[in-house]
Amino acid sequence: MSMVLSPLITAVHFPPISEVKNWVATRPSGGPELIDLCQAVPDYAPAPELTEHLSGLLPDPLLSKYSPDEGLPEVREAICGYYQRKYGARLSPANLCMTIGASQAFWLAIVTLCRAGDEVVLQAPCYFDHPMVLDMLGIRGVCAPFVEADGGLPSPATIEGLITDRTRAILLVSPSNPTGAITPPAVIDELLEVARRHDIALVLDETYNEFIPGGSRPHELFSDPEWGGNLVHIASFGKTYALTGYRAGLLAASEGFIHHALKAQDTMAVCQPRITQHAVKFGVENLDGWVAANREMMARRHDLFRAEFMKPGNRFHLSSSGAFFAWVRHPFDGCSGREAAKILVDRAGIICLPGEVFGAGLEGYLRLAFGNIREETIPEAVRRFRELAV
Ligand SMILES: Cc1ncc(COP(=O)(O)O)c(C=O)c1O
Repeated sequence: MSMVLSPLITAVHFPPISEVKNWVATRPSGGPELIDLCQAVPDYAPAPELTEHLSGLLPDPLLSKYSPDEGLPEVREAICGYYQRKYGARLSPANLCMTIGASQAFWLAIVTLCRAGDEVVLQAPCYFDHPMVLDMLGIRGVCAPFVEADGGLPSPATIEGLITDRTRAILLVSPSNPTGAITPPAVIDELLEVARRHDIALVLDETYNEFIPGGSRPHELFSDPEWGGNLVHIASFGKTYALTGYRAGLLAASEGFIHHALKAQDTMAVCQPRITQHAVKFGVENLDGWVAANREMMARRHDLFRAEFMKPGNRFHLSSSGAFFAWVRHPFDGCSGREAAKILVDRAGIICLPGEVFGAGLEGYLRLAFGNIREETIPEAVRRFRELAV
């Protein structure tokens, strides 16, 4: 290629899921059947009643048209009802913009808040897409260190210590990808207070909010009438309703914030596809019970995974777990996470992600997305870790 590319993008690593999936092609033949602990995708199908509902909408000629950039008013109205039930929130449709997954909601949040040269404070280990976006935009990601003894939970004091006059946001993912850690509501509250003290945003990515055991309320921030002053919330109905391919995300923020974010929305995507919006509307109006049943199933997978993994004699150490994920210290001294993950592909038929894609210095760890595999496969998956010669 003779054209010059932006150094901001060439310096960013290749998407890790694609990288790891490429290793599978070169693994020795004759090994055990592959167990995929790599990508966080619900393994189950969407609710049949949702699919049926959508198929009835297909003949509608409006379905193939653009919608307003922010999404159809009746869809956003229905989502407000969901937020009232889930968070006790009094949101208005003007607080919402439907996006192409939580991924695009993050882009909207960041381009609305930051310019090149600004800083965002993140909690390590970080969901890899977030630093990738920041790097591409010339924004400096400043990581609060991962403290294994704290289970990867954020310390508001540490985070506040990293804020400078260039900082525009604190970014928190709860439940965390990759550790599964659920930040307690009181800590989320403190982080909003920190953001308020410094006139910056708390960007909360709550992609896994429906996988908190018992369905408890993730936080109380929305019940404060002033929430929109400093809070920017990101959600993914893709995970909630097993619609990851529909790209069903949401940005919630103050009306003023959404007004500016819509300039980016118009240029990036125009709108979330209408079919996706109808899927989300059907979900928030009809599927609370379906979501709760899947949450319980995920909790059973988590409990079984933990119980199997922590039986004596496992040289892999479970550092933290929750929601979809386990964050594990591998026993291969001197090996990077990539080297350890390749050993697992080649010798145990397990694919998972190396720790270093979630931040510098995390080469000793692996992320396992046990949410991808059924209960009956979990003992076999864990057996392969336990029996792998080190
Ligand atoms: C923390 C986090 N945020 C955002 C996303 C992207 O979600 P979506 O598929 O809705 O774009 C993911 C996907 O794995 C994620 O783990």
